[in-house]
Amino acid sequence: SSLPPVITIDGPTASGKGTVAHRVADALGFHYLDSGALYRLVALRSQRVGIEVDEVKDLADLAHGLHLRFRGDKIWLEGEEVSQLIRAEDIGNRASALAVHQQVREALTARQRAFRTRPGLVADGRDMGTVIFPDAPVKVFLTASVEARAERRYKQLIDKGFSANMEDLLRDLTARDARDASRAVAPLRPAQDAHLLDTSDMTVDQAVAQVLAWYGQAVPGQA
Ligand code: CDP
Ligand code: CDP
Repeated sequence: SSLPPVITIDGPTASGKGTVAHRVADALGFHYLDSGALYRLVALRSQRVGIEVDEVKDLADLAHGLHLRFRGDKIWLEGEEVSQLIRAEDIGNRASALAVHQQVREALTARQRAFRTRPGLVADGRDMGTVIFPDAPVKVFLTASVEARAERRYKQLIDKGFSANMEDLLRDLTARDARDASRAVAPLRPAQDAHLLDTSDMTVDQAVAQVLAWYGQAVPGQA
């Protein structure tokens, strides 16, 4: 096909998708899509305007109409820079709660596919390989033990100046994993043709090298 190549990186919370996807995109000079940020933006905006996570029609309308700008690591929502705000754990949990609705997901589909421009895209999320870019030449499903992931997220939250508690994190991660994996629409699962990568005992560098190697095999002469 003449569409630019896409590398999809899906997996559960704090498996390292964002970090690895970002690094792979930099290495290849590709664009980067953090699809989870879109759900987090819907979560933040709906919370502010007082729409509940089960008001499906209002959420879908809001998702359609969001005014967003992405530049480098920064994200603007209705003109306000919210890059750090959307990383709060309650926003992640709220995002997961509203992401169960088919209409909300459909409202974000075209926006996600629009990131696929030359020279290529690295996209991370839950359904990048299964729903949004099913024809991607390279699909990766990242995992890590729940303990490793809770520890990673704990460090990230503290670094960003949020308070965090290991017990709450373990409980919330487990609940979010279960909800993301069990929902009827676009559940978290590896695409049939995805490479599985357990990063529990890997460094970021090792994970990045493995993804680049898979890309080099799938698209020879490019990586
Ligand atoms: O995007 P996702 O929620 O899957 O994870 P992330 O935001 O990339 O966070 C993963 C955190 O774990 C980052 O602080 C990474 O530096 C760290 N980490 C990793 O991503 N991969 C490893 N193999 C080891 C640590
Ligand atoms: O950083 P973390 O992995 O915790 O979450 P995220 O990737 O920012 O996504 C937040 C929530 O949005 C997830 O728990 C999912 O329920 C939802 N999401 C989704 O349904 N589909 C995607 N492609 C990305 C995120």
